[in-house]
Amino acid sequence: MALLELRDVQAGYGPVSVLRDVNLAIEADEVVAILGANGAGKSTLMRAIVGLIPLQHGAIFFQGRELTRMSAAERVGHGIALVPEGRMLFPPLTVLDHLLLGSNPSRPSRAELDERLQRIFTLFPVLQERREATAAVLSGGQQQMLAIARALMSRPSLLLLDEPSMGIAPKLRRDIYAALGQLVSSGGLTVVVVEQDASLALRLVKRVLLMQGGRIVRDGSVDAFRSSESLQRAYLG
Ligand SMILES: Nc1ncnc2c1ncn2[C@@H]1O[C@H](COP(=O)(O)OP(=O)(O)OP(=O)(O)O)[C@@H](O)[C@H]1O
Ligand SMILES: [Mg+2]
Repeated sequence: MALLELRDVQAGYGPVSVLRDVNLAIEADEVVAILGANGAGKSTLMRAIVGLIPLQHGAIFFQGRELTRMSAAERVGHGIALVPEGRMLFPPLTVLDHLLLGSNPSRPSRAELDERLQRIFTLFPVLQERREATAAVLSGGQQQMLAIARALMSRPSLLLLDEPSMGIAPKLRRDIYAALGQLVSSGGLTVVVVEQDASLALRLVKRVLLMQGGRIVRDGSVDAFRSSESLQRAYLG
């Protein structure tokens, strides 16, 4: 049984369909990149998986359980977390506030909460230094680390990241991908990452999905992707 399964998914905004005929299975511990041009539907796919938009047709299963009509908060409780495009932090709230908010839907005990915070601070030491700072005063890279950390505070088994390197200086991008690499190698986490600039993401993942016009038009190994000259040209510049 796949960890995540989408069957004939159609979704969009109001009456408009963006995603069409999306069928997808992701196994536990896979690390997958989703590539595609502006407007291809990558963020819409993320939103449909986490329940921020309803399906117009089709079904979504996670660990064999049907999620299709479950609220976004319930899905977090079942182990799915999204790091949204644009980070979506609350400027007046502190780093610690964000981390506590992130843990809320999963209702950890005090001891479990402390353990999760320790794990986050080991992964992103700068967040410990700045735990009383508001999100408004963090650098772009620190904000992205916080957005990832907030998602991790729910102890997800599936982590979805929507363009985590967007608008961030190259050094911090590498730091963020190094942290994702550590998370992946420590095990027990399935990762799906959306990126436009694929070069960093492709070092992390084993499988690449390509989206075009709301459909998954290609699904294969990262090696197959790398050995295709036309794909290289289109997505690695
Ligand atoms: N909130 C919204 N309301 C209406 N239409 C939307 C909304 N968000 C996205 N769309 C439309 O849905 C389509 C897919 O957008 P989506 O944001 O999923 O693309 P994307 O692949 O994430 O693009 P990008 O790389 O720019 O982030 C586009 O035509 C877009 O205009
Ligand atoms: Mg997007």
